[in-house]
Amino acid sequence: MKRIAILGSTGSVGVQALDVVAHHPDRFEVVGLAAGRNARRLAEQVRAFRPRFVTLSDPGAARELAALLPGERPEILPHGSGAETLAALPEVDFVLAAISGGAGLRSTAAAVEAGKTVGLANKESLVLAGELLTRRAAERKVAILPVDSEHSAIFQSLLGHNRAEVRRLLLTASGGPLRTVPASELADVTPAQALRHPNWSMGDKITIDSATLMNKGLEVIEARWLFDIDPRRIDIVVHPESIVHSMVEYIDGSVVAQLGVSDMRGPISYAMAWPGRLRLDLPPLDLSRLGRLTFEAPDPSRFPAFTLAYRALEMGGTAPAVLSGADEAAVAAFLGGHCPFPRIASVCEEVLDAHVPEPLTSVDQAIQASDWGKRQAERRVKGGEGARG
Ligand SMILES: NC(=O)c1ccc[n+]([C@@H]2O[C@H](COP(=O)([O-])OP(=O)(O)OC[C@H]3O[C@@H](n4cnc5c(N)ncnc54)[C@H](OP(=O)(O)O)[C@@H]3O)[C@@H](O)[C@H]2O)c1
Repeated sequence: MKRIAILGSTGSVGVQALDVVAHHPDRFEVVGLAAGRNARRLAEQVRAFRPRFVTLSDPGAARELAALLPGERPEILPHGSGAETLAALPEVDFVLAAISGGAGLRSTAAAVEAGKTVGLANKESLVLAGELLTRRAAERKVAILPVDSEHSAIFQSLLGHNRAEVRRLLLTASGGPLRTVPASELADVTPAQALRHPNWSMGDKITIDSATLMNKGLEVIEARWLFDIDPRRIDIVVHPESIVHSMVEYIDGSVVAQLGVSDMRGPISYAMAWPGRLRLDLPPLDLSRLGRLTFEAPDPSRFPAFTLAYRALEMGGTAPAVLSGADEAAVAAFLGGHCPFPRIASVCEEVLDAHVPEPLTSVDQAIQASDWGKRQAERRVKGGEGARG
């Protein structure tokens, strides 16, 4: 019986993780659930999974939750630091870090510090503070297991091989909902269009990042730290069918890949059950019905955002955190109808241009850098370019 805490339980990854638990009640005990503001969904999850601890980051939502659960209810941890407290509880063995955005960093760091095995969906944790987190995890002998399907595929493709014989990692990208949209039409893309992902059902932020290819850039940063590899040896290949989840090329030219249907319960359950696997009720991968798998190079002229991630890694220190913060603000502005789609990438580029990176020494500093990136992007979206701040 693995005792688990799910941070971000009301989101896309969190809900699918609970579905895995529901199918394997003999394998997992849900000790705690953390979410942001969706008190109703959290209340339903409490009734179904009977955790001992819950927390919501929004104080109003925490009060709503208490009202929704009038009788016997789990302990509601204080809203400010609830997810961190949950991640470090002695009753917890495994933490699924599935909060979205930079808000997930502190609780991931708390889980590592407390020596928990971490299933990491929150890629922003590694984008903001990958160097610090992976160093600390190595010191504490903590396993950070990827939940992102691409990184899970690489993790699986590395098993049984000699790391020193890896030539490069090949991260596959679906290309997102706008892959075939011509450059001249990108300025007119609406949030509804950009949210219509062809293969994956995910939260809004990651779906827009998928459309700009910033998601792939953030994944390059995530891979750089998870697999301790020079970013120049991480390549992106667009694969619209999302069947090959990613690949590892070895020095003899052999390429090892992991394939499967596009369903996040695959990589989520792999991290939850590692080093074993769980039986899942997914449709089998029928390659002969699919007929063919296609691959193409990403197009930086239409989707330049991924190139900024390589640049941020080269700048080093606080630069990836700044890029992540800028992207969060620009995506929020796009979703709110305040900035056209191509402006997401150009705002991020301007913010990186304005940043003078500093060596990263603490989680607090990474969060401050991300917040600086956010503020800079917000000002630029509103037209206040060159603002200091
Ligand atoms: N979805 C996928 O298939 C997928 C695939 C790979 C990686 N990821 C990564 O996994 C993470 C989660 O993605 P998602 O698609 O599941 O996002 P999502 O559907 O937007 O869900 C986000 C979750 O985080 C919670 N949350 C937000 N801010 C919070 C805060 N300050 N404190 C506590 N909880 C907070 C939300 O709570 P409320 O809803 O209650 O506000 C919700 O439970 C992201 O980093 C994403 O990049 C996702």
